[in-house]
Amino acid sequence: MSAVLPVLSTRLSAAAAAAFGTPYDPELRSSTKPEFGHYQSNLALRIGNALGRPPRDVAARLVAELQVDDLCETPEIAGPGFINLTLRPSTLARAVNDPQAFTSNGQRVVVDYSQPNVAKQMHVGHLRSTVIGDALCNVLRFVGYDVVRQNHVGDWGTQYGMMIEQLLAEGIAAETLDLEGLQHLYERSRKHFDADGTFAVAARSRVVALQSGDPETRAMWRHMVDVSLDDFEKVYALLGTNLQRTDVVGESAYNDDLPRVVEDLEQAGLLTESDGALCAFLPGFQGRDGDPLPVIVRKSDGGFGYSATDLAAVRHRVNTLHADRIVYVVDHRQALHFDMIFTLARAAHWLDVPAEHVSFGTVLGPNGKPFKTREGGTVKLAELLESAVARADALLAGREGIDRATTARAVGIGAVKYADLSSDRGNDYVFDLDRMVAMTGNTGPYLQYAHARLTRLLSKAGPVADGVTELKDPAEQRLALLLTGFAATVQQVAETLQPHRLCTYLYDVASALSVFYEQCPVLSSDGETRASRIALCTATRKVLQDGLGLLGIEAPDAM
Ligand code: ARG
Repeated sequence: MSAVLPVLSTRLSAAAAAAFGTPYDPELRSSTKPEFGHYQSNLALRIGNALGRPPRDVAARLVAELQVDDLCETPEIAGPGFINLTLRPSTLARAVNDPQAFTSNGQRVVVDYSQPNVAKQMHVGHLRSTVIGDALCNVLRFVGYDVVRQNHVGDWGTQYGMMIEQLLAEGIAAETLDLEGLQHLYERSRKHFDADGTFAVAARSRVVALQSGDPETRAMWRHMVDVSLDDFEKVYALLGTNLQRTDVVGESAYNDDLPRVVEDLEQAGLLTESDGALCAFLPGFQGRDGDPLPVIVRKSDGGFGYSATDLAAVRHRVNTLHADRIVYVVDHRQALHFDMIFTLARAAHWLDVPAEHVSFGTVLGPNGKPFKTREGGTVKLAELLESAVARADALLAGREGIDRATTARAVGIGAVKYADLSSDRGNDYVFDLDRMVAMTGNTGPYLQYAHARLTRLLSKAGPVADGVTELKDPAEQRLALLLTGFAATVQQVAETLQPHRLCTYLYDVASALSVFYEQCPVLSSDGETRASRIALCTATRKVLQDGLGLLGIEAPDAM
């Protein structure tokens, strides 16, 4: 008996069926104001409208049929015909003491996220994908999915032919280059390619050697990939993400499947030749000029591009990984790409499960433009994260009884993650460290502090019988009611893939907690009241800790 809301919804729906012959969806919602009880429904207004009867009469009929005495106080009819329900304190207490747990839903979800590109720095867009993707994986697992992570690293394409040829031309051993060295190598090879026809020919045949598996070429390419992955892993370690090396299934992994992708699409009659390239023209996809937009599956030089790899990846995820749902956490600029890939994969009958592009906005600098270094380059993520940790460290100056370095890391990184997760992911946001590490407002540190303060209070409480037993004060009722909504909130995030809903919920909990502190003494109260309030604090601490954990944010015991 933990999720009260679905039980009440079922009962109200049954009352509608008994009174009016149809089981309506009661659309029961949390009340907007305490004087409207705990839950509200506008069902009587909707039925009244549909049947042409006065809503208040309809409400009276519904309430007469409604059987909720075991859970609620007497239902009330308010205003034009709203039905307000107030839970009995005992109902609320039981719901808090026995939170809803999820079991396996028997479904597998594949989550494609992070996806940086080899031989390039990770940029803030990859940071967003990593943070959002990690949080979604945690949430999906929590509600019962079997989660498979796929880091679709960009590690394939013509640029590697150029870079390898440049290495050979310069007589440099691949082993001597770090990520920055690779980035510069790329720039030199690009210039060389554009200026020197002989080099361009050599670079092209180097791509063929790479794609057909020439050992020497592959070894040099492998080195570039490894150097890059080592560097990405430094950022992952700082962030504390759950991504492992084994989750890397880059574009190159699909190389051998690409000819089959083309063959099968061709057999299905989905490809057209256009200027030597093999393309799919899908109904409804047009450019600005009204011309049909192609998915280029094989380029005119015979090479395969980004789209071909993604088509092969869809097939792999459905057929080999047995995905029941596929989620792509990639910035909003690729919306059209995914729309076309999903449409083509469905047309080819390769994709028969939901595929969702979890799109997100751009990280902006203080000037409101996409976040770059002063020189216009990519901001190094490791340095950015270190500066967040330094801010947090300054904030903690003078605190006693904490492990300063560990706590500063948890707070600094938590602040960055929370800022990324707490606004609707479709929005752009300004990377503003001062605002992120603030201890007040809807920030990570504010929630972490609420958790740490509760931990300290509980450590002083001494042993008490557990379980909430009485809820007399409206402030404790409000807090308890919010706590009962945790599972439903997480479920909602798993459905909508919008982590900000969980952030808003946790912020509401922390805000209700501070009102509770003001209205309800805990340690200085007596007897059953004291024990029950301590139990409420314990339950609140667990919700904050679990919620932050799902967001990928640490909850230090002291700060
Ligand atoms: N590596 C790409 C980029 O940095 C993102 C890859 C997204 N995932 C995918 N399956 N296409 O833009």
